Parts: sequence; structure tokens; C-alpha cells
Amino acid sequence: MKKSVLVLGLAALFFASCGEKKKDELKKEVETPVEEVKEVATEPAKGPAEYLVLGEKLFTEKTCATCHQADTKVIGPSIKEISKVYAKNNANIVAFLKGETPAIVDTDPGQVAIMKANLDGFVKDLTSEEIAALAVYMASIK
Ligand code: HEC
Repeated sequence: MKKSVLVLGLAALFFASCGEKKKDELKKEVETPVEEVKEVATEPAKGPAEYLVLGEKLFTEKTCATCHQADTKVIGPSIKEISKVYAKNNANIVAFLKGETPAIVDTDPGQVAIMKANLDGFVKDLTSEEIAALAVYMASIK
């Protein structure tokens, strides 16, 4: 009987000290500067194949496919046309989607305005990971 009380006591002590440690870790996490957390959060968590699958899914879900088909121009240039021009110019689709670089595939102001409306309307709300996935998918259509 005495022995089991001792064991229980030890176990309680053990858990209590564990709890303390967790608290300390949590405190550290809370105190971690936002910049550091952001950096960790934007680290690619997926491999190339997963990006491709996610990008293909998003391309339809986010309505990109309505205006961009693989081979033919619908409203916007075909995906092949876009990936060809971006590859040739060593340009970055992610930068375009983030609004950091101007259009290089179709520079007609009316056309640019249509795509710009998407960038300002909803593309700006996509996560870095979603944008990266869309770019990986587009670049894969050659
Ligand atoms: C309402 C039609 C429409 C939708 C929806 C649309 N686009 Fe576009 N997109 C266009 C048009 C028009 C252009 C041609 C103008 C231009 O190149 O900026 C274009 C051009 C582009 C370009 C080439 C930009 C360049 O350098 O010229 C990329 C990349 C692109 N779109 C990606 C996307 C992605 C990704 C989505 C979905 C998140 C999307 N588009 C949704 C109409 C659309």
C-alpha cells in the first residue's frame, strides 16, 4: 500500500514537472517574434508532386480555368502560351500573381485589366503556398 502511494506520488511529481516544461515551451512560442513565425509558416511544407496536385485543383476551384485552357486562348492566353513566355524570359509567375511584376504575355491594356481585376479581387487573398502551387501547375503545362 505504502509503495503504491509512493509510486503515485512520484508519478504526480513527474507529470507536474512535465506540465511546467510545457508551460515554458508555450511561453517561448508566444514570445517568438512574429517575423520568425511567418518565416516558418512560409517554408514549403509540400514536395513538388503535392504542389502540382494542389495547383491543378486550385486552378479549377479558383476559376482560373474559365479563362485559361491548356492549348487554346479563351478569354486569357492558353496555359501553354503563358508557361512558354515565362520560361523563355526566365520570368516568375508567382511574382506576377502577387502583383509584383507587370504582364508580359498579353500587354493589351484591356486584357491586362481583366487579369488585374482578378489579382486585386481574389488572388491577393490566396496564401503563398496556393500561389506557388498555381505557378507550379501552370509551368508544368508545356
Ligand atoms: C476573367 C478571366 C480570367 C480569369 C478568371 C483568370 N485570368 Fe489570368 N488572364 C486573363 C487575361 C485576359 C490575361 C491576359 C492579360 C495579361 O497577360 O495580364 C491573363 C493573363 C494571365 C497570366 C499571364 C500574365 C502575363 O505576364 O501576361 C497568368 C500567369 C495568369 N493569367 C494566371 C491566372 C491564374 C493563376 C488565375 C486564377 C487564380 C487566372 N489567371 C484567372 C484572364 C483571366
